[in-house]
Amino acid sequence: MKKILIVNGSKRRNGNSYILGARIVEQLQGKAEVTAFNIGERDVRVCLACDGCKHQHTPNCVQKDDFTALIPEIDSCDAMLILAPVHWDQFPAQLKAFLDRTYSFMDFTQPDFSMAGRKDKKLAGYFFAGFGPVEVYTSMVETNLKSFATAGFSDYQAHVAGDANAPGSIMEKPEDLKAADEMVEWLLA
Ligand SMILES: Cc1cc2nc3c(=O)[nH]c(=O)nc-3n(C[C@H](O)[C@H](O)[C@H](O)COP(=O)(O)O)c2cc1C
Repeated sequence: MKKILIVNGSKRRNGNSYILGARIVEQLQGKAEVTAFNIGERDVRVCLACDGCKHQHTPNCVQKDDFTALIPEIDSCDAMLILAPVHWDQFPAQLKAFLDRTYSFMDFTQPDFSMAGRKDKKLAGYFFAGFGPVEVYTSMVETNLKSFATAGFSDYQAHVAGDANAPGSIMEKPEDLKAADEMVEWLLA
């Protein structure tokens, strides 16, 4: 069974990232081994840029928090799915902190700058925006997702669902639900 890590980057407990995340966890039951990680409820500190991780040859981080504990899971999973809102045209701060922390996977002695144990992992990013048109946010999301390549996520897909301010509104959007279903199929393939 595939190991899929689901990372929720929203602080809104009743928001669309959580609601779609719960639907996906249900869909994956019996099909994948799922670990759910809700950044908003965890202790994920900002990168100290101390370069402590550059004096060792593992992706470990010198900070001791929930991100550090998750590093083996990030390294060994088959795929990661990120669900999150757009905040001020960008990744929300808590998700940006999560991305920054993957700097611990960076190894300047490697041709691809990565010391990830696996470099063939899939990454899906499903984002929610209050407004549209969503195309404005797609390139921002893709640019950020590309940075996860250092942690071994070499293949990615992105989707942005607009007009998503109201908690639960995702359930009324057949096109966006279809995109989520297709993303899940891709992660499982
Ligand atoms: C601090 C903040 C900044 C936001 N910035 C944007 C934005 O730049 N563009 C946009 O379309 N929506 C923006 N929104 C709205 C959220 O993206 C939208 O409500 C989203 O659906 C929330 O997802 P969630 O329910 O999973 O948290 C912002 C919301 C907050 C709280």
